[in-house]
Amino acid sequence: MIECLRILESVNLPAHIVAHSLQVARCAVTLARHLNNNSHRLHEDLVCAGSLLHDIAKDLSLKTGKNHAHLGAAILEQMGLSLVAPIVRDHIFLNESMLEAPFSESVVVNYADKRVKHEAIVLLDERFEDLLVRYGTTPEKKAHLQRRWKIYRALEQKLFAHTSIKPEHLAQEAAQVSWAVGHCDGSQ
Ligand SMILES: [Fe+2]
Repeated sequence: MIECLRILESVNLPAHIVAHSLQVARCAVTLARHLNNNSHRLHEDLVCAGSLLHDIAKDLSLKTGKNHAHLGAAILEQMGLSLVAPIVRDHIFLNESMLEAPFSESVVVNYADKRVKHEAIVLLDERFEDLLVRYGTTPEKKAHLQRRWKIYRALEQKLFAHTSIKPEHLAQEAAQVSWAVGHCDGSQ
């Protein structure tokens, strides 16, 4: 984790994006732990590293106009973090066919990111209502976001069917996540 935060510092990621990424990591690690308690085999360090680094290129993408997920993955590949890079590349993509696949670190980080609005852990509906207001500026964009909303609802149902908690309990549990020093360094 310390290593991931150093990486974010080295690229001068703004503090509010670091704060957002920490919240995503809390949600993703909480969810991964619950899934692992129910016989899944998710690599928690990788989930943590992917969450912390998922928006590494967000600021850069605003300046260059490039896709922040692809740009972030390329940066991490260059750093030799080849296991984390695909998680970052995939964190904004989800289609129906991915719902049929076994749970992965990528899907957990992807979902967790949709539970954090700026720096606050919120319900999926609140996050998508906000996205609709901000980005649903044409009928096509609105319809696209509504389709995505529906897929994420289905993913949420599938994920939480394998946990002992409900989606609305995630924020409270995530707030209690503590990090071990040296844990989650993203290099494995
Ligand atoms: Fe994010």
